[in-house]
Amino acid sequence: MPHAMRTEPRQLRIAFGADPLTQISITWQTRQPVKNPVVEYGETPNLGRRAVAERVRYPYETGAIYRALLTDLKPGHRYYYRVGSAEGGFSRAYDFRTPRAGLHDFVFTAFADHGTTRYSVRNTRNVLAHNPTFHFIVGDLSYADGRQEVWDTYLEQLEVLAARIPVMVCFGNHENERIGEQRIGYVAAETRFAMPNRGQYYEFTISNARFVAFNSNERKDEQQYAWLERALQRARADRTIRWLIVFAHHPLYGSTRRRGNNQAMIRRFQPLFDRYRVDLVIHGHDHVYERMYPMRNNTAVVKSGTRYKQGAGVVYVTCGGGGASLYDLMPEPTPWTAKREKTYCYLKVRVPAQGALRVEAYRIDNSLIEAFEIE
Ligand SMILES: [Fe+2]
Repeated sequence: MPHAMRTEPRQLRIAFGADPLTQISITWQTRQPVKNPVVEYGETPNLGRRAVAERVRYPYETGAIYRALLTDLKPGHRYYYRVGSAEGGFSRAYDFRTPRAGLHDFVFTAFADHGTTRYSVRNTRNVLAHNPTFHFIVGDLSYADGRQEVWDTYLEQLEVLAARIPVMVCFGNHENERIGEQRIGYVAAETRFAMPNRGQYYEFTISNARFVAFNSNERKDEQQYAWLERALQRARADRTIRWLIVFAHHPLYGSTRRRGNNQAMIRRFQPLFDRYRVDLVIHGHDHVYERMYPMRNNTAVVKSGTRYKQGAGVVYVTCGGGGASLYDLMPEPTPWTAKREKTYCYLKVRVPAQGALRVEAYRIDNSLIEAFEIE
């Protein structure tokens, strides 16, 4: 294999840094280590600025992973960049846009249970076409399940989106990996994605929306639980925050065959989501689309319509049709199910500066499953 191939930057991906408006991390991988890896970036295609990258490692890595954090960006600006090294060669050029500062309308997209099928590939392109401010993958990302080269396939497939749009993730059961008899835990996902707090639990804010993500595999973790409660409390005490949106892999409610409602998740998290009047909770794990009417005390507060009053109840959406596979539904939905369909899917959410939050759920052919609003 020629030298250039072994040092070619691949699997480019960007994510929000601690401040999403001014910080973007850029991660990539080469087969062989290179000297002096950098990100060249700037406000024009001429680039002109440079950030030194650091190698990040984990024991089962399949190449050399590099990461740079750009910390001096302006909100609401377009940036151009490429990654690589003088000796090893550079990637093609990409561009991204930082979120605007202050109160404004924006769109984000989400799905879960992504995988590496042709549906996964198509769904990645679907969300890119909406040009969201960010995309969120709600756990069960690559389905590597210990086979570390599957992460490479997955991240190469994700580049078309993740090199241009910040991709944020939380972890599902498939991120908790084992190699043979050995449990390696979340180390691959933690290293390959540059999330706050290694992707376990974290929050970020854009405009008037607070996003809170946690690891629902670790639902018994008291530290995470205490953090989650404080995060929800803080969001509700903050007058600049109108919308409170939670990402967690495992759904509380659902009518997927052999699964149904998850009593352990309900017992643990329903009181918290109710108490802090979370507006929207986005899940995966069940490989279908299923959405509940606004819920309070484990029952629906309304059972019709697609326009709901903010604060009346928590709306739970499962969008587990990211591409990995599909599950069968039980013959009967839950008493609170507003819409369900065994289909590949993605969500497009419009967060308004004023007025109603709008959620649109699409099939993989971009036809609409449903839309609903919270006002
Ligand atoms: Fe899962």
